[in-house]
Amino acid sequence: MSSVRLADYRPAPYLLSRTDLTVRLYGDHALVEAQLRFAPNPAANEADGAGASGEPLWLAGIALTLESLQIDGLTLASEAYALESEGLMIKAPPAAPFVLQSRVRIEPHSNTTLEGLYVSGGLFTTQCEAEGFRRITFHPDRPDLLSRFRVRIEAEHSSCPVLLSNGNCIDSGPLDQGRHYAIWDDPFPKPSYLFALVAGVLEERRELFTTASGRSVQLRLHVEPGDLTYTEHAMASLRRAMRWDEQRYGLEYDLDEYNIVAVRHFNMGAMENKSLNIFNSKLVLADHEIATDEELERIESVIAHEYFHNWTGNRITCRDWFQLSLKEGLTVFRDQSFTSDLHGAAINRIENVSILRNTQFREDSGPTAHPVQPDAYQAIDNFYTTTIYEKGSEVIRMLHTLLGEETFMRGMTLYVSRHDGSAATCDDFVRAMEDAATLAWDEAQESSDSCRFDFAQFKRWYHQAGTPVLQIQRNWDGSCGELELHIRQHTPPTPGQPHKQAVVIPLVLGLVGQGGEPLPVQLEGEDPETAQEQDLPPSWGRRSRLLVIDQPEVQLRLCGLPKQHHPPALSLLRQFSAPIKLDLGRPVAELVHLLAHDSDPLARWDAGQLLLKRAVLARSQGQHDAQLEEELGDAFGRILNDPSLSQASKALLLSLPGQPELEDAAQQAGHKPDPPALFAAAQSLRQRLGQALATTLLQQLEACQTEWTQSWPHGQGDRRLSGLIWAWRSAAGDAAVIAQARAAVDGASMTLARYGLAALQHHDRPERQAASEAFYARWQHRPVILDSWFALEASAPFGDGLARVQRLLEHPRYDPNAPNSVRAVLGGLAGNAPVFHAADGNGYRFMARQIADLDGRNPITASRLAKVFSRWRSYGTERAAQMHSALSTLAQAELSANTGEVVQQCLAEDNHG
Ligand code: BES
Ligand code: ZN
Repeated sequence: MSSVRLADYRPAPYLLSRTDLTVRLYGDHALVEAQLRFAPNPAANEADGAGASGEPLWLAGIALTLESLQIDGLTLASEAYALESEGLMIKAPPAAPFVLQSRVRIEPHSNTTLEGLYVSGGLFTTQCEAEGFRRITFHPDRPDLLSRFRVRIEAEHSSCPVLLSNGNCIDSGPLDQGRHYAIWDDPFPKPSYLFALVAGVLEERRELFTTASGRSVQLRLHVEPGDLTYTEHAMASLRRAMRWDEQRYGLEYDLDEYNIVAVRHFNMGAMENKSLNIFNSKLVLADHEIATDEELERIESVIAHEYFHNWTGNRITCRDWFQLSLKEGLTVFRDQSFTSDLHGAAINRIENVSILRNTQFREDSGPTAHPVQPDAYQAIDNFYTTTIYEKGSEVIRMLHTLLGEETFMRGMTLYVSRHDGSAATCDDFVRAMEDAATLAWDEAQESSDSCRFDFAQFKRWYHQAGTPVLQIQRNWDGSCGELELHIRQHTPPTPGQPHKQAVVIPLVLGLVGQGGEPLPVQLEGEDPETAQEQDLPPSWGRRSRLLVIDQPEVQLRLCGLPKQHHPPALSLLRQFSAPIKLDLGRPVAELVHLLAHDSDPLARWDAGQLLLKRAVLARSQGQHDAQLEEELGDAFGRILNDPSLSQASKALLLSLPGQPELEDAAQQAGHKPDPPALFAAAQSLRQRLGQALATTLLQQLEACQTEWTQSWPHGQGDRRLSGLIWAWRSAAGDAAVIAQARAAVDGASMTLARYGLAALQHHDRPERQAASEAFYARWQHRPVILDSWFALEASAPFGDGLARVQRLLEHPRYDPNAPNSVRAVLGGLAGNAPVFHAADGNGYRFMARQIADLDGRNPITASRLAKVFSRWRSYGTERAAQMHSALSTLAQAELSANTGEVVQQCLAEDNHG
């Protein structure tokens, strides 16, 4: 399998100004005619020093049957081109502008890859990012070629009354034999990956939106007949996103129409095709009866994310796929800011940090670790990773933290004005930020230069994989109130990158005094006046100080502190100001103090997480730490009774770290993680805390209940805390709570129903069985909801788990062609520690067989799933051997390029996982 390299990037030899398509849809195939208007690219020819023309023209094309090929109206002789399995080469195109015309036949009905044109439940739909357009017609299909699209769609009227594509519908009408047509014209030049087409029977919700400048936009949301009642939330979310982008970024929508279509069969969450977003139906259809609070918030943020791409992705697109984070990292940053503004910055930040640590940190320390801007790949679909997205967003966030809101926004404005209408690079983005910073730094009168940094060094965040570790040693001199910090940074090696360089780390810190009061952070040599609070966002910790750590080693002296025997507590990485790990020994007492008093919500939560990790780890090794658990219980009791904390904050502060984080904590403590033991330890800690805090928990549960009937976003904190209490008290065997959790499944709130199921999930008892059956009976006709049932069943940690999973795969309502169902069952199994990681290795072998089988139908979904094997080296000898043998069996199967690449990365020797 060959790699694509960033270093090999060359401008396209021919520019493409227009892509005109005629797509004829039939009951068992489709015909596509394309007219592509090319002209030699002067820039490319200069770069190569070649003449004005003569370069061959490569047109990508996969699974197409070529029926005719012409240039300027003349059929091409067979010697004039070479047809290969992945495209065709025109050997000597004209030296002047020319039109290439092709006709191909394709088979959307049997297309299970869900790339290109395919059929989902009778609906014709497309997915072109990253390289799906080449499955529709022969085309250069590269993101740096922006052309104007005009598309004529023809189909049978009865089965396809609705015909949609990008831009504006400029004509439509009847044809012979019960057929009809529509012509769509998109005035904005775009890369082929943003093309979309939908045809089928759809109902729509329509609303008008008036932009800030007074233009009227028709918003249309298309769903399967019968689902219209579930579209209100998505539509309202879209309006909020459009308004927010106007108000915060000054960016307005640019077309007269905005369409969203929901489809059942979809590899990803959603896709930002110009003016025709296509969504996984689970991310559209929702109300509080069929979706949980978490799902409602997720839907709002994904709708926003795809909408925000209209500027950061569509108007300004990516030059090549190595720049993927340019649009994805930035757009994730924007959707996170949107959710923070709407629902509270602190809670949103904690949730995102938790996701980052459980997914991205894991990826970054394993065999598939790669930089935010990779320099080579085999299958581009494998690079839609948490590193590109979540770490990419963290990199943008660090720029925001270092520059401040005002300068960051000036940089954004520069970026948009420079690159609108073109394909840009990550370097272009950073350059715009650097230019804005230079202006701001020049303007600044007094040189408070502590936040200045070197952009060239900052860019290492784009090129270096791995999670940096900040090692901190402290020296406290109580007699003069001085705290010395010795800070060292290092990044562990990752595949292909054995040696790392120092990065620019924005470190926000604070000091908490013995009475819980915030203390000023005053650096040596500073007068106390300047050591005031810096201009940091108001929702964060008091007296926070931003420091820039850009050297491998730094020594700092913090002065003017109270002269006491005990040092003040050190609150580090407030706001989670950089995507790094901290390595410093903080005694339990200090963490308990921070958990009680830290004014920075993130650092406060993190103190609790560290304590919880220690407690789980100790239990997993059969040495439960009674004193630690008692202190933790006391601290949690005070938190639960604290009227100044929201119920949502209480729930977050008490939530246990995820399984990947527990495994990582075990590894950091020098052990080989034992997933079933960690899983059981977490559950037994819940049981212990559920017993120790019984009275307080039940009081809180009662207080929460009064808010249960409020509809999202109201009451969500109360529901969330109730769910946690249900889980803890069910673990402790509380019969009344178990009955309440069971009854929630029949109630009016999907959030409570799912919390009820989750609380019962660990227990092989009649109430769990009854709850599961009731849920199934109630929702069996709604596939999206049934997927959550499939996931719960697949992750039940008792009984013969593999036999249960096998039955689910044979279940009449299981759809092997729907990635949602596949992920529910096989993803559920992968998250089922006792079953997947069973010592006999049967879980691994079962999974390997399923992945090989899935790979034949849907390589994109299969290769994502194959990453469940990536940690094999981190486990103990026997488990590692079992996992390795399952991987080796998988490697011997006939695999797609996508899955082949992942398996090969997992098995590679150069692997520091
Ligand atoms: N452009 C992507 C979707 C995509 C990527 C589709 C690759 C097909 C192949 C879209 O903007 C996206 O990022 N979607 C995310 C959700 C988002 C909120 C992070 C997804 O689909 O998971
Ligand atoms: Zn995106």
